[in-house]
Amino acid sequence: MPGMVQDRVAFVTGAAGGIGLAIAQALAEEGGRVALSDLREDGVRRAADVLSAQGRPSIGLACDVTKEVELTGALDEAARRLGPIDVLVNNAGLQHVSPLESFPTEKFSHYVVFLASDKAGCVTGQAVVVDGGYTAQ
Ligand SMILES: NC(=O)c1ccc[n+]([C@@H]2O[C@H](COP(=O)([O-])OP(=O)(O)OC[C@H]3O[C@@H](n4cnc5c(N)ncnc54)[C@H](O)[C@@H]3O)[C@@H](O)[C@H]2O)c1
Repeated sequence: MPGMVQDRVAFVTGAAGGIGLAIAQALAEEGGRVALSDLREDGVRRAADVLSAQGRPSIGLACDVTKEVELTGALDEAARRLGPIDVLVNNAGLQHVSPLESFPTEKFSHYVVFLASDKAGCVTGQAVVVDGGYTAQ
């Protein structure tokens, strides 16, 4: 995707590790300004510091995507500090793999609560960023 995200602003959820961090790093390497958000604030702050030290402007923001106030606050802060958000990566999520007969009830309940929490569309991936970018509300 050379050039596609140059000087664009991206907001990546679940970016403290795994796939979210890899996506954030790839977007930053392609010239994007990236807001990394996660439940794990220390992880995203550290990752953003590393990217920024490489000359790739990035910020790390604490945000639980199941809490609309936190999500909106993080989106607004990212837009204020980096500019209108052009790219939204709805990556944060849960995964637990086990045979059906031994799948823990509390894990299943957690999934249901997680999905049911989605008021802003960022959990179920419905949220998109409109042309012109998301600006602070
Ligand atoms: N790895 C796989 O094989 C695979 C397969 C299919 C789908 N997925 C999905 O892809 C996404 C990333 O997978 P991964 O393997 O990197 O997972 P991961 O567990 O390594 O990373 C998920 C990140 O999301 C964060 N997170 C969890 N709940 C959150 C919340 N409420 N608010 C904000 N952040 C939260 C976690 O702190 C973690 O940093 C997940 O949504 C996962 O369900 C992964």
